[in-house]
Amino acid sequence: MSAPLIEVRDLTLAYAGRSGPIRAVRSASFTLGRGETLGLVGESGSGKSTLGAALLRLPGAAARRTEGTIVFDGIDLGALPEADMRKLRGARIAMILQDPLASLNPLFTAGRQIAEVPRTHLGLAWSAALERAAQLLTAVRIADPHRRIDDHPHQLSGGMRQRVAGAIALAGSPDLIIADEPTTALDPTVQLQYLDMLKAEQRARGFALILISHDLAVVRRVCDRIAVMYAGRLVETGPAAQVLAAPRHPYTAALTGALPAPGRRAGSLTVIPGTAPSLAALPPGCAFHPRCGHASARCREEEPESRSSMAGSSACHYPLAAAT
Ligand SMILES: Nc1ncnc2c1ncn2[C@@H]1O[C@H](COP(=O)(O)OP(=O)(O)OP(=O)(O)O)[C@@H](O)[C@H]1O
Ligand SMILES: [Mg+2]
Repeated sequence: MSAPLIEVRDLTLAYAGRSGPIRAVRSASFTLGRGETLGLVGESGSGKSTLGAALLRLPGAAARRTEGTIVFDGIDLGALPEADMRKLRGARIAMILQDPLASLNPLFTAGRQIAEVPRTHLGLAWSAALERAAQLLTAVRIADPHRRIDDHPHQLSGGMRQRVAGAIALAGSPDLIIADEPTTALDPTVQLQYLDMLKAEQRARGFALILISHDLAVVRRVCDRIAVMYAGRLVETGPAAQVLAAPRHPYTAALTGALPAPGRRAGSLTVIPGTAPSLAALPPGCAFHPRCGHASARCREEEPESRSSMAGSSACHYPLAAAT
């Protein structure tokens, strides 16, 4: 098997809290091959954006790596000087941020913000870079691109802004794009169009994609692999078909609606009773145990290790497939 494009091992990321570090990502491990798509799913606050931003050491990301490694195409990103990381960012790893307004600069035209990437990374002259920007707007299915390159973000609809953010990510022809909830701001029809566009561009260009989402339906549509996050841990990883059809972790099962959970109303597929715990006050044992219909005394006391299983991993004392 060829080496994976990205390999994350035992990654722990912490924010500075008032009374000590708050570990938003704990001991996360996963790999992703070239051209593959990984869906990173989990409830709000589970640590998805923190993990995504850490993969390209996003400037301004407040979480610090306290343990573990991120190896991208053989390069240990933790050991890479910032000057080299800057060359990698945009050119080899790009990110589409959760909030398109936050990722676009209101002062500059869409064209300029896209053209900046090939100018910086490929050394193109402005005129050539702007022509490239217009081509990229066509790629992300924006009509009349030569007019749109002169628009400022406030002149674009939410869907168009998200497409411009996509064009910026595509502009450096990266090997990996991390898309953080790229469709939450869009209405359902536009969401599907955006995902299909991203998928078509992926087929044409061959980049690997990490798609962050709280929506399993979105992930199901586009991903080869799935990683399920709960309270900072990857509780289950594996091929999408396997994870969805035969989830091993009760949390995944609850998300997929495979298991009747106590108190769940019919039809409320992804609503799991109870709330995710605060990272500053995690319950002892397995963080999911207060919401888990299968929890035993051991789950309340001992945090389960992540164990490899088939083509993935799960972190449960009593993984479902083994229990039945
Ligand atoms: N800058 C920060 N300082 C301190 N804590 C933070 C910071 N950013 C995020 N956190 C905390 O880290 C945890 C994980 O946040 P993160 O944004 O990664 O979650 P998420 O899974 O992306 O959630 P969402 O689905 O709402 O986007 C949360 O508990 C959050 O409160
Ligand atoms: Mg997020």
